[in-house]
Amino acid sequence: MKLNLSINEVKEKLQKLYMPHEIDQAIDLIKEIRELKKQKNAVILGHNYMTPDVYYGVSDFVGDSLGLAKQASEVDADIILFNGVHFMAETASVLNPQKKVLIADLQAGCSLAESITAEDVRRLKQMYPGVPVVTYINCSAEVKAETDVCCTSANALKIVQSIDSDTIIFLPDVYLGKNIQKQTNKRLILWEKGKCMVHEQYTKEDIEYYRKQFDDLLVIAHPECNTDVTEASDFTGSTSQMADFIRKSPRKNVLLVTECSMADNLRSEFPDKNFIGTCHTCPHMKKITLAKIRDALLYEQYEVKVPEEIAEKARKSILRMFDLSYTKA
Ligand code: 13P
Ligand code: SF4
Repeated sequence: MKLNLSINEVKEKLQKLYMPHEIDQAIDLIKEIRELKKQKNAVILGHNYMTPDVYYGVSDFVGDSLGLAKQASEVDADIILFNGVHFMAETASVLNPQKKVLIADLQAGCSLAESITAEDVRRLKQMYPGVPVVTYINCSAEVKAETDVCCTSANALKIVQSIDSDTIIFLPDVYLGKNIQKQTNKRLILWEKGKCMVHEQYTKEDIEYYRKQFDDLLVIAHPECNTDVTEASDFTGSTSQMADFIRKSPRKNVLLVTECSMADNLRSEFPDKNFIGTCHTCPHMKKITLAKIRDALLYEQYEVKVPEEIAEKARKSILRMFDLSYTKA
């Protein structure tokens, strides 16, 4: 989704969420970053889990992993600065080998991406010869290079259903895999070690607790949560699908079972809704701050580049995902 707010619009969004002195500091940095963006002919992509100052202040495009990967394949700029985590910047780099792709902090990783290596995938392929491999986009380029096709939380079921095989190796998110397994007759071979450190913390008891307090509560979960959590929810989808569902729902009280900043960003988009409950923070996403974004553009750091022999194979699995995802079922 394109997002290019004026400074006054940004101030309005932040007013509901920050103290006045914090807004002043943020606006100074936002102006500096916008100037650098012009000078360097850079485009900034921002994931839905960015804090509101980053999300509303400096993003040209915002969205979920699928939307931003697609956007990254279409941008016309010399520099792409990815405000998200490392595997997302890597995906942008794989799709744009000629462009400079930057991330403001190289330590912004992901517990799912860290749960599996290319060697693990090669071993699984030896154990199950000929079985196709579908890999969640939350993984390294080396892992993507060993994969037949990628998927995201927005299209995982569609991708699995479109593969011509009764058995599929589905990596690395075990909970996303279990959520998809409930909706398909195919047999999924899963990777038990793959869990999101944020979504694995939610329990169905959390949901029951809040349901008792609000009769009309709308509960929306991310499919990286365990199946008892998604079963106790009214809707499960990618971060952008969650936002779309809220946009269309008349219900006022909303429990978002996902990362904290998502609720902050939506709180300011839907002032009439009541976002309730506790949330868990992704320490990786939170490494991306306005000050580091300013430095990233100023010093053109930190470049994310994938060796071409890996990128070429990884690109195939991402482009195949686009083909399967954007064609009618
Ligand atoms: P989305 O693709 O739904 O935006 O999810 C990415 C992610 O890392 C969720 O934890
Ligand atoms: Fe990875 Fe979970 Fe953080 Fe998303 S929220 S980047 S899946 S650790």
